[in-house]
Amino acid sequence: MSRSLKYEIPGDDPRLSLTDVAALGWDELFAKTRQTGENRLAEGIDASSRISESRRRRVLEIGFGRGEFLLAMADRMPEVDFVGIEISFKRTLKMARKVARAELRNIRLLEARAEVALKQLFLPLGLSEIWVNFSDPWPKVRHSHRRVIQANFVADAALALEEGGALYVATDDVRYAHQIDTVLAAESRLFNQYHPWPYLASVPGRFETGYEEQWRSVGRPLHFFAYATTPRIDLP
Ligand SMILES: C[S@@+](CC[C@H](N)C(=O)[O-])C[C@H]1O[C@@H](n2cnc3c(N)ncnc32)[C@H](O)[C@@H]1O
Repeated sequence: MSRSLKYEIPGDDPRLSLTDVAALGWDELFAKTRQTGENRLAEGIDASSRISESRRRRVLEIGFGRGEFLLAMADRMPEVDFVGIEISFKRTLKMARKVARAELRNIRLLEARAEVALKQLFLPLGLSEIWVNFSDPWPKVRHSHRRVIQANFVADAALALEEGGALYVATDDVRYAHQIDTVLAAESRLFNQYHPWPYLASVPGRFETGYEEQWRSVGRPLHFFAYATTPRIDLP
């Protein structure tokens, strides 16, 4: 029997609508959130991380699922603003409850199709990093056009990244990995940070996502890609 969903948010609701973002813009929305969180900032964060609003880095995770990765990153880096996009209403709601409970004011969530949101809300040069972790592989050939990593999406990602910004993609699916490799290598504005290898099978120090943990525990091969707008960046 499925448990009923809890709709109330135990604190500030981190969810935004496409209309909010289009009307106000990310800078204003994050600045507003931070004002309400001033007390926590004053108590918990040292002066060196109080950098000006305009210089704050912005990182996007697409398809955050249960949200382990986004929560860990945002907790580790309070000086960075994080946006999570998820197509599932239920996962966005559950994540909103987790973010509110953790009082993480540097995460905002959008329930949206990532391909649309990226084009409408992040172009150009607005992002330091884009993470696409274990997006659905759609293994049947007739469904493969539904995969997130496609040439148009990667072209938009390249435009959305600032200079030195990076797109990180991970998958457990071998056929999807081939497609990702082909599409990323064909995007002339992005440079493979793992050259001469197309991807790495593991990345030390990386936060583990829910699916990553699951696939690793059953021994599936993993593929981690890192592409940036300049030939060599300091990888996280
Ligand atoms: C296989 S799960 C991986 C979840 C998480 N990234 C992880 O690694 O544990 C893929 C997630 O992407 C979401 N998703 C699928 N297509 C999407 C799209 N076009 N835009 C945004 N989210 C999407 C799904 O709802 C699901 O939560």
